[in-house]
Amino acid sequence: MLSTKLALTAFFAVSPAFATLFQSRDSTENANSSQWPAPPANGGKAWASAFAKANATAAQMTVEELVNLTTGVFGPCAGNLGAVPRLNIPQLCLDDGPTGPRDVHGGSQFPAELTTAATWDRELMFLRTKAMGQEFHDQGVHIPLAPVTGGPLGRTPLEGRGWEGSFTDPYACGEASYQYVAGLLEGGVAPVSKHWIAYEQETFRNPFGLTESDTPFPLLTMHEVYMWAFAEAVRAGVSLVMCSYNRVNNTHACNSAKGLNNLLKTELNFQGSVVSDWGGQWNSVPSALNGLDISMPGSGDGGVLGDFWGDTLITLVNNGTISKDIVREKVVRTLTPYYFLGQDVNPLPPFIFNLLFPNTAYRNVRKPGTAELIREIGTSSITLLKNTGGLPLRNPQRVAVLGNDAGNNVLGTNACGPTNSDCPLNNLVSLTTGGGSGSTFAPYIVTPLDALTQRVIQDNAEIGAIISHTNNSAASEAILALLPDVDVTLVFLNRWSTEGADADDLVAQAVSVSSNVVVVIHTTGVVNIEKWADNENVTAIVVAYLPGQEAGSSLVPVLYGDVSPSGKLPWTWGTSLADYPVSKRVVDDHVLSPQANFTEGVFIDYRWFDKQNITPRYGGCFPFGFGLSYTTFDYSDLVIDSKGSKDNSSVMETAEPFVGSDGTNSLYDVLFTASATIKNTGNVTGSEVAQLYISIPEEGEPVRVLRGFDKVKNVTAGARATASFPVRRKDVSVWSVVDQQWFVPNGTFKISVGSSSRNLPLVSIFISVGTLFADSE
Ligand SMILES: *[C@@H]1O[C@H](CO)[C@@H](O)[C@H](O)[C@H]1NC(C)=O
Ligand SMILES: *[C@@H]1O[C@H](CO)[C@@H](O)[C@H](O)[C@H]1NC(C)=O
Ligand SMILES: *[C@@H]1O[C@H](CO)[C@@H](O)[C@H](O)[C@H]1NC(C)=O
Ligand SMILES: *[C@@H]1O[C@H](CO)[C@@H](O)[C@H](O)[C@H]1NC(C)=O
Ligand SMILES: *[C@@H]1O[C@H](CO)[C@@H](O)[C@H](O)[C@H]1NC(C)=O
Ligand SMILES: *[C@@H]1O[C@H](CO)[C@@H](O)[C@H](O)[C@H]1NC(C)=O
Ligand SMILES: *[C@@H]1O[C@H](CO)[C@@H](O)[C@H](O)[C@H]1NC(C)=O
Ligand SMILES: *[C@@H]1O[C@H](CO)[C@@H](O)[C@H](O)[C@H]1NC(C)=O
Ligand SMILES: *[C@@H]1O[C@H](CO)[C@@H](O)[C@H](O)[C@H]1NC(C)=O
Ligand SMILES: *[C@@H]1O[C@H](CO)[C@@H](O)[C@H](O)[C@H]1NC(C)=O
Ligand SMILES: *[C@@H]1O[C@H](CO)[C@@H](O)[C@H](O)[C@H]1NC(C)=O
Ligand SMILES: *[C@@H]1O[C@H](CO)[C@@H](O)[C@H](O)[C@H]1NC(C)=O
Repeated sequence: MLSTKLALTAFFAVSPAFATLFQSRDSTENANSSQWPAPPANGGKAWASAFAKANATAAQMTVEELVNLTTGVFGPCAGNLGAVPRLNIPQLCLDDGPTGPRDVHGGSQFPAELTTAATWDRELMFLRTKAMGQEFHDQGVHIPLAPVTGGPLGRTPLEGRGWEGSFTDPYACGEASYQYVAGLLEGGVAPVSKHWIAYEQETFRNPFGLTESDTPFPLLTMHEVYMWAFAEAVRAGVSLVMCSYNRVNNTHACNSAKGLNNLLKTELNFQGSVVSDWGGQWNSVPSALNGLDISMPGSGDGGVLGDFWGDTLITLVNNGTISKDIVREKVVRTLTPYYFLGQDVNPLPPFIFNLLFPNTAYRNVRKPGTAELIREIGTSSITLLKNTGGLPLRNPQRVAVLGNDAGNNVLGTNACGPTNSDCPLNNLVSLTTGGGSGSTFAPYIVTPLDALTQRVIQDNAEIGAIISHTNNSAASEAILALLPDVDVTLVFLNRWSTEGADADDLVAQAVSVSSNVVVVIHTTGVVNIEKWADNENVTAIVVAYLPGQEAGSSLVPVLYGDVSPSGKLPWTWGTSLADYPVSKRVVDDHVLSPQANFTEGVFIDYRWFDKQNITPRYGGCFPFGFGLSYTTFDYSDLVIDSKGSKDNSSVMETAEPFVGSDGTNSLYDVLFTASATIKNTGNVTGSEVAQLYISIPEEGEPVRVLRGFDKVKNVTAGARATASFPVRRKDVSVWSVVDQQWFVPNGTFKISVGSSSRNLPLVSIFISVGTLFADSE
C-alpha cells in the first residue's frame, strides 16, 4: 500500500538539503510575523461554543499531543493527522477531492465543479456538495480536500487544473464557492478551500531542478480578483484553507505572514486552520509563525513530499524556539470545526484505502437520489453553442455515432487508475472527469452510446445504424460510405483527442459526406474548433464538459429535446490562444526564479476581451455567459428597487475594511435589488440564466463586471418569470491599493442585464455620491 501511495503522489522528492536550499531563497519581505502577526482565534460569529470546547480541550494537551494535531502521519487517507487517544480524538482523515472521495470505491463520480458552474444554478451547486459531503462522511473522511475556490481561477485557459475550479470570474466563482462550502458542511464534513493563493499554473509549481516555484511579483490584484472567492468561502463558514505550491511576491504561499496571518486570518477573519498543500511547506520555524497550522503530509509519505514539524516541532517547543501557545492556537483552529460539525459525538467510520474492485472492504455509500442529481446537473450544464437546425433531434430513424468519446473505455471502467491518467490517450474514452488528484472512480459510466441505444429501444424506432467507432485516427471507407444516408451524424470529441489533429480529422471527414453533423464535446476547457465550427454541415455544437458517471443519461434528453439546453459558458471560448491575456502558460523559462507577473491586472477572460474589443463572431468565439436554448427569451422591465437590507448571508463575518464602515453596516449589506422580466417567446419550455453586469466608474476597472445571475427555471412557452439580483456594497466597490480598503467610487454606474456578457439589452444607470445612491431613472 505504501508503495502504491508513493507512486501516486511522488511528484518530487524533498531531501533536507534540497529544502534548505529553497527556503533560503524565500523573500523575507512578506514572511515577517512581527510585521504581520497571527491574530488569536475566537470562533467568530458561528462557532462560539465549538471554539470554547476546542480551547478547553487543547488547554489540557501535552506538547506531544498538540503536535500530533498539527502534523501528518502515515495512514489510509491522502492525509492523516495523529490521534490523541487520551482525549478520545481519533486520527482525522483528509482526502481528495473536488469530485468525490478519492482512492476508494463505493461512491459516486460527481460532475466536475466546472460542469456544475455551467449550470449557473446555485441550488444545484449546493445539492451537489451536500450529496458529496454525505459520501465523504460515510467513507470516513472528516476533511475533504474540496472545493477549489478560485485557485486556479482561470487566468489562462492552459492551466491543467482549470476544470477542478468553476468560473474564470471572481464574483461567479465566489457564488459557487459559497454554495460548495455550504453543501459540504450540510453533509457533515469540514470543507477545505483551495488553493490559497494566485495558484494559476502547473508548470514550475514545485521546485524543479534548480528552479524555484513560480511567483507572481508584485501581485496587486489580490482583492478584486484572487481573494474574492475565498472571502465568500469564509462567509459560508469554510473550515480549512489550503495554501498553495506557488510563491507570491517571491514568498511561498504557505510561508507568507502577509497572506496567511494578515489577509486570511485578520482581514477575512478566518477562524479555521491552514493546511499546506502536499509539499507546499519548506521550513519548520517561519511557517509556524507565519500562519500555517497543519503540515501535510508530514511524515505520512515517508518524506517524499517534505517532512516538517512532528518531532522537530516538539524539540522547537521544548527548547523555547516556538511557544507552546502558538502550537495550541493551531490545534484550537483545527478542533473548532471538528466540534462544530459534531464529528466527535457522531464518529465517522474508518476510511478504507481501496484502489481495487472488487474488494472485500468495499463499502457502498451511495444514497438514492444522488444518481438523479448527477444527471440533472449534467443536463443543466449542457451548453449549446451553435444550432442551425441540427437539434433537437426529431425522431431520427438512422443515426451514426462517431468518435471514441461516445463509448466505453475498452480497457474497462476505471482502468485509467486512481488519477485517471494511467491510460494511453487513445483509450481515454467518454471523458467524464479530468486527471490528477481531482478525479474519482466511477461506480459505472452511462456512456453516450449506452444512452442513445436505450433511446432507440424506447422509441421503438427503426434506426439504420448506430456506428460505434473507437479509433479517432480515421473513419473507414465503409463507415464513410454510410454517412450520406443517415439522418444525423453525431461526432463525439474530447479535449485530449482534440488537441492533436485526430478528432479534427474525424469531423472533417464527417462534414464532407454528411450535411447534418452534430458535434458533442466533453472537455476540461477551451479547445480549438476553428477548422469546422463555421462549416454549414455542422448543424449543432454542444459542450457537455465533464459530467461524471451519468454522461449519456444527462446528454440524450437534451439531444432529443425532452429538456431545452440551459447551460452557459463559465469562460470565454476564444478562437485562438492569442486572444487571451496569457497566451503562454507562464514564464516557463528554466530560470532560478520563474516569475509570472500577472501584468494583465484585473483583466482576465471576458474583461480582457472587452478591453481589447475582441468581437465574438459566434463562429468559434463565444462570449462568457453564452449558451443557446431551443426556445427564445425576451428581456424587459429592468427595475431597480433601492430599498436595501442588512447582510444576512454571512455565516461568518469578515473584517474587510471599507469606507463608511460604522460598526453596524457591512460590506455585504444589500444596497439595492435589480429585477427584470424574462418572457419565453418560443414554443417550448426552457430555463434561462439572466446575468447582471455593472460598469464601475473608476479608472482601471473593466468595461463591465458580472455582479449577479439568476436562473429562471422551466418557464413554459409564453410565460414570464422574474429574475432578481441583489447587489451588495462590495459589488459596487473597488479596492484602493493606496488606502488598503474598499470604497464606492463617486459617479455614474451602468447596470446591464441580459443573456450573456455580450448580449445585454437592458440598461439602467444610477449615481453614487458618498454613501448616497440615486436611481437616475
Ligand atoms: C519585521 O517587521 C518588524 C516590524 O515591522 C521590523 O521591525 C523588522 O525589521 C522586520 N524584519 C525583517 C527581517 O524585515
Ligand atoms: C483559551 O484557553 C487558554 C488556555 O489555554 C486561556 O488562557 C484562554 O483564556 C482561553 N480563551 C478563551 C477565549 O476562552
Ligand atoms: C500521536 O498519534 C499517533 C498516531 O495516531 C498515536 O499512535 C499516538 O498515540 C499519538 N500520541 C499521543 C501522545 O497522543
Ligand atoms: C505583494 O507586493 C505588493 C507590492 O509590494 C504589495 O502591495 C502586496 O501587499 C504584496 N502582497 C502579498 C500578498 O504579499
Ligand atoms: C532548538 O531545536 C532546533 C531543532 O532541533 C535546533 O535547530 C535549534 O538550534 C534549537 N534551538 C535552541 C535554542 O536550542
Ligand atoms: C487506428 O487507425 C489507424 C489508421 O487506420 C491505425 O494505424 C491504428 O492502428 C488504429 N488504432 C487502433 C487502436 O486500432
Ligand atoms: C456538406 O455535405 C454535402 C453532402 O451532404 C457535401 O456535398 C458538401 O460538400 C458538404 N459541404 C461542406 C462545406 O463540407
Ligand atoms: C517580473 O517583475 C520583476 C520585478 O519587477 C522583474 O525582475 C522580472 O523580470 C519580471 N518578469 C517578467 C517575466 O517580466
Ligand atoms: C435575507 O434577506 C432577504 C431580503 O430581505 C430575504 O429575501 C432572504 O430570505 C433573507 N435570507 C435569510 C437567510 O434570512
Ligand atoms: C413556433 O411555432 C410556430 C408555429 O408552428 C412557428 O411558426 C415558429 O417558427 C416557432 N417558433 C420557434 C421559435 O420555434
Ligand atoms: C425542469 O424540468 C425537468 C423535467 O422536464 C426537470 O427534470 C427539472 O428538474 C426541472 N428543472 C428545474 C430546475 O426545476
Ligand atoms: C465622494 O463624494 C463625497 C461628497 O462629495 C466625498 O465626501 C467623498 O470623499 C467622495 N468619495 C470618493 C471615493 O471620491
